[in-house]
Amino acid sequence: MPLLCVNVDHVATVRQARLGIEPDPVTAAAMCELAGAAGIIMHLREDRRHVQDRDIDLISQTIQTQFHFEMAATEEMQQIALRITPATVCLVPEKREELTTEGGLNCIGQEKRLIEYLAPLHEKGIGSSLFIDADPKQIKASHAIGAEYVEIHTGHFADAKNRAEQKTELARIIDGIKMCQDLGLKVNLGHGLNYTNIFDFAEVPGICEYSIGHSIMSRAMFSGVDRAVRDMVEIIRNFAD
Ligand code: PXP
Repeated sequence: MPLLCVNVDHVATVRQARLGIEPDPVTAAAMCELAGAAGIIMHLREDRRHVQDRDIDLISQTIQTQFHFEMAATEEMQQIALRITPATVCLVPEKREELTTEGGLNCIGQEKRLIEYLAPLHEKGIGSSLFIDADPKQIKASHAIGAEYVEIHTGHFADAKNRAEQKTELARIIDGIKMCQDLGLKVNLGHGLNYTNIFDFAEVPGICEYSIGHSIMSRAMFSGVDRAVRDMVEIIRNFAD
């Protein structure tokens, strides 16, 4: 049965809009766990635009499920991962100017570097995942690198302009999933998945985890807004005239 892991970066984005202490992504993570999430994902970006080092430290101390640490393959992130020992690291490409992770990691020609990069993490018992496009060449390279998981990038599928384009992307992803499974790579999916497009994967066998952030936090705002407004109305109603 596939599992849901929730990315709480977007909670940190709202907090960083005011550089304050709320909403706290660590509290969000605990609530996601209570609601049944099988794991929590945070991406500590080099520019610290949303998740902060403090979040990574706290989540690693309080996680009750599995912490998946998304990061660029830099020396700094490797040291942090070795210190906090998440369940897995997921290597992603990172560009300063991007709004979010825009494409998969390029593993081609990086095999030796990434084998060496992951070795100390594997030695510490940390699992590894590579965030890649559903491209046969990237899948072969990921297999050569020896990561346990790949996370196939579903962003192009999610962003497709029409159903025909979406179906083309879906077919590419499904072919990619099969190829990974034939090679013995475990497959996760992530990026841009929502309450509508996820149904396209309902019949696809063998997917381990769905990594979902933005659509869940977007829905949380609306499913929570009624109560949040009522609470404030109630407070103000009890004030003196
Ligand atoms: N997987 C990876 C590698 C990501 O970078 C992201 C976005 O932070 C996600 C999954 C989750 O994507 P979304 O927020 O669109 O659900």
